[in-house]
Amino acid sequence: AASSLQEMFEPSSSSVYEENADINWDELGFSLRPTDYMYTMKCSKDENFSQGELNRYGNIELSPSSGVLNYGQGLFEGLKAYRRVDGSILLFRPEENAQRMKMGAERMCMPSPSINQFVNAVKETVLANKRWVPPPGKGSLYLRPLLIGTGPVLGLAPSPDYTFLIYASPVANYFKEGFAPLSLLIDNEFHRSTPGGTGHVKTISNYAPVLKPQSQAKNRGFSDVLYLDSVQKKYLEEVSSCNIFLVKQGNTILSPATQGTILAGITRKSIIDLARDIGYQVEERQIPVEELIDADEVFCTGTAVVVAPVGSVEYQGKRFEYNTGAGTVSQKLYSTLTGIQTGLLEDKMGWTVEI
Ligand code: COI
Repeated sequence: AASSLQEMFEPSSSSVYEENADINWDELGFSLRPTDYMYTMKCSKDENFSQGELNRYGNIELSPSSGVLNYGQGLFEGLKAYRRVDGSILLFRPEENAQRMKMGAERMCMPSPSINQFVNAVKETVLANKRWVPPPGKGSLYLRPLLIGTGPVLGLAPSPDYTFLIYASPVANYFKEGFAPLSLLIDNEFHRSTPGGTGHVKTISNYAPVLKPQSQAKNRGFSDVLYLDSVQKKYLEEVSSCNIFLVKQGNTILSPATQGTILAGITRKSIIDLARDIGYQVEERQIPVEELIDADEVFCTGTAVVVAPVGSVEYQGKRFEYNTGAGTVSQKLYSTLTGIQTGLLEDKMGWTVEI
């Protein structure tokens, strides 16, 4: 199927990405640049997803009383396709996104695509939008799979119908800071997640509630908010759109354990594996906010964010500062991870999938 799709969409030149006239690859940030095609697959409540299709990118029709609009019954994913120097395209761990969507769908009472359906749909979407995969070094094609309740409901109940959809956008750096260090604010008033809630799954309803604390922090000049747990209000959880890591004594790396209230990031997990492989000691555990005081480095990880150094964190009016730049652990992990993702370094872990 991949080869016939490739024939359908690929112009004869091998350097298709250079022929795309409507984009300046040097000006990419993290904002939507719609591409040619999106993937859609539908099913009803008691069925399994079966056959999807590619259509031109565009608006979708929804019942005004759909589950997603009325009760937030929806999940999203994020993954990236990278252009290699030889022009070929690599996906990074797409089965992990498929599995996470499956787990989230169970929590949100939705049917989900199988792992194969998800991964094949991602591949088809990338091939159909191949000319939007940036040249090496200029960014990546961000894929946004969605699973939403599209059928009508009025009383609170699972939607009768569901749509799995993937759209794509070429992207580069997530934060406007680019590679410059982030400044985070620890919020004492707002929390992202509660035990028994949905903080560990990628439901759309985890994200609108952080817009207010995030915009308040941005208005004060911070890059984003670092949240604490909602019960004891003392343990680090995550940032609005990414996970958090600390580096101590040069060789110990810490990240909050993902016990129900923290999103199990795929970049988070990959960084932990890479760090252990390089020889760092990695601890996943509860991290009291006080441990920020004697950390050498702080950094964020996420699909969109990749690995982003944190230069300072403010907590209760006190500002803590961290090492960033050349020679830091985060920079080493960033180069190792992006080297694998873009095919410049050997993929010992077997994480990339060529399409
Ligand atoms: C991602 O990193 O892909 C995410 O889903 C975070 C999103 C808020 C941009």
